[in-house]
Amino acid sequence: MMHIQVGHRDLDLGCGPGIDTIPLAQFVGRNGQVIGLDIDNKMIEVANKKAIDEGVTDRVIHKHIDANSIPYHSDHFNSCRSERLLQHVAIPWAYLI
Ligand SMILES: C[S@@+](CC[C@H](N)C(=O)[O-])C[C@H]1O[C@@H](n2cnc3c(N)ncnc32)[C@H](O)[C@@H]1O
Repeated sequence: MMHIQVGHRDLDLGCGPGIDTIPLAQFVGRNGQVIGLDIDNKMIEVANKKAIDEGVTDRVIHKHIDANSIPYHSDHFNSCRSERLLQHVAIPWAYLI
């Protein structure tokens, strides 16, 4: 459903330890980018270590950022996914398009 293509920039909101960002690297290819955001810095550390271990740091970045204040313009990404984040935020419907 995300229609991911080689070269795309894709966002994983509430990425946790990078379980999904790492596999997404295969879909976007070397010229694409996957950005995972999570409010828990420990999760970001685990995810970044996983990216190093899997050799995908050229295209997978994890950042310690609150989903309530995403520092990207809405057209920065080709697609966005989020798994098991909405139960953690105060106003989940604010994330619906
Ligand atoms: C149940 S985990 C799911 C992680 C990952 N999406 C997965 O499916 O493996 C929920 C994640 O949402 C993150 N989270 C909760 N509130 C958040 C917020 N306001 N902004 C960003 N991440 C948040 C938590 O730190 C946690 O890593």
